[in-house]
Amino acid sequence: MSIWNLANQSLQKLVPYEPGKPIDDVARELGLPPSGIIKLASNENPLGPSPKAVEAITQAARSVHIYPDGGSFHLASAIATKLGVDRSQIILGNGSNEIIEFAYHAFTAPGQSSVVASRYAFAVYRLMAELFNIEFIEVPDRDFHHDLTALRAALRPDTRLLFLASPNNPTGTRIPNAELEAFLRSLPPHVVTVLDEAYYEFMDNPPPSIQWTQQGLNLIVLRTFSKIQGLAGLRIGYGVASREITEVLQRCRQPFNANALAQAAALAALNDSAHEEKTRQLTGLGREKLESFARQHSLDHVKSEANFVLIKVGDGQKVFTELLQRGVIVRSMKSYGLPEWIRVSIGTPAEMERFEKELLEVL
Ligand SMILES: Cc1ncc(COP(=O)(O)O)c(C=O)c1O
Repeated sequence: MSIWNLANQSLQKLVPYEPGKPIDDVARELGLPPSGIIKLASNENPLGPSPKAVEAITQAARSVHIYPDGGSFHLASAIATKLGVDRSQIILGNGSNEIIEFAYHAFTAPGQSSVVASRYAFAVYRLMAELFNIEFIEVPDRDFHHDLTALRAALRPDTRLLFLASPNNPTGTRIPNAELEAFLRSLPPHVVTVLDEAYYEFMDNPPPSIQWTQQGLNLIVLRTFSKIQGLAGLRIGYGVASREITEVLQRCRQPFNANALAQAAALAALNDSAHEEKTRQLTGLGREKLESFARQHSLDHVKSEANFVLIKVGDGQKVFTELLQRGVIVRSMKSYGLPEWIRVSIGTPAEMERFEKELLEVL
């Protein structure tokens, strides 16, 4: 008998998440030195982590024989103070991805609930629905933007979760502030909205979304230390919601889900506004330059508010593979149903120059 007969049936059809290819894998497969490879595939911080975070990790490393603080008291308190909310409104996750999983644990049950999200939204929303065996309703978008009217129309009496990503990955587009607020206020109370703001810090004129969590809305705002703070390898993110919603989410987590080094690094990074600002500037300039390069070469692209740009290149998988062979890792968009596109993260100016040169040669 196959072990699959014993396994949870929903696992049989689950297509695992396809992450950006690690530099080491490419180096091994192509016999290239890792130093000759650039990765513009996972929307990471090209400046690396905050030096203050690295220092905090070094300090905290001496105490890793002790379990972490399960309640993440210091980090949750610092986040709460920075955002102007109560600590009871904060939940820490092993990456913000883990909080997406908590939302499924907390608010869905197979055969009893549905989940709504936009087409071309972050892949993990659907992946979790498949894992939890929950009906996933995908709503067509409007020119790579969430179609709020269609999303509201898709809500059913059994819908428990609605995912919005702003800026969204992989499109890079955002929901305008006033539209977003009016939309959230118009939603029925049986739906919990997860507003995923992994790229919040890269936006100009960001929405006051944290305030909305204090105004009686069924809203969970997700943020992460993986992007602007450059701590993707540590896996640390957080959710902000009403005290009642946070209490429900807290029951879904393992006792020590946020590890000690991640807590220490995130706490230090939170106070390193200089590193954050430097990253924002580098990303903003790099994004403008990449978009103007795309215009100059008549490559269709989506105007981005995040640290990556979606670019139409023809055969996306072929371009991805050929760039890979030249030591440039971007993201193929085939798994998103966008076979003609690639997604390119903003790297350092030197990395972007190399990408542009190699792309022109490949095309
Ligand atoms: C829209 C969006 N949400 C959430 C995440 C997950 O981030 P993490 O789990 O690293 O916090 C990502 C990562 O790429 C993302 O693009």
